[in-house]
Amino acid sequence: MNHTTIQEPLAEDQWFIDSSELRQFVTIVHEISSRTSYDRAETLSLLEPYFKQLLTTQNWLSERFVQPNPDSRMGGGIGQWLLYRSKDRSLSVFSLVIPPNSTTPVYDHLAWGLVGLYKGKQEETVYRRVDQGDVEGYAQLEIVGVRQLKVGDIYKLLPPDDYIHAVKTTTIFAPSVSIHVLGNDTGCIWRHQFHPEKESVHSFRSGYSNIFCN
Ligand SMILES: [Fe+2]
Repeated sequence: MNHTTIQEPLAEDQWFIDSSELRQFVTIVHEISSRTSYDRAETLSLLEPYFKQLLTTQNWLSERFVQPNPDSRMGGGIGQWLLYRSKDRSLSVFSLVIPPNSTTPVYDHLAWGLVGLYKGKQEETVYRRVDQGDVEGYAQLEIVGVRQLKVGDIYKLLPPDDYIHAVKTTTIFAPSVSIHVLGNDTGCIWRHQFHPEKESVHSFRSGYSNIFCN
């Protein structure tokens, strides 16, 4: 349970997609997030309209990044495709592809962020931790709410609250695709996976479908 993530800086910013729309958006994210580092609620509010525009522009995400991944670490064929991460690993953008009938684990994120639906429909179950977190491996969660999401819908991740959730695709024939903009290198950090029915928690690293974490 005592995994720590020591992340060396990268040699340079990494791009895995050639998209002027995403490049413009990332430039805006850097500008707004550095200007509002004192208040992440403001960061997210200012970014939201730009993110909404990116989500509803339906031509920039290439086919490769809307595919499931049969070898997924999350299980269920879920694809987590890294599109961009900054040199200092303080910003990542990735697509999450959830096939029909698949559900993500229940997990947290450990960073501020925006998540929005690009394709399909999802049901999101949001949890709150109600134990003190002082017993190794033990966690008690309660459900805060269940939300239905359609293309263009956005939710915010705002520490210090643990944002814990699980997401499933509710479309029958096609995967759902969401875009994640996070203030960390989400796929490569150790975070937490919860098992509400067993009241347990363990360390979890989702990885990415297109690169290895080192
Ligand atoms: Fe998530």
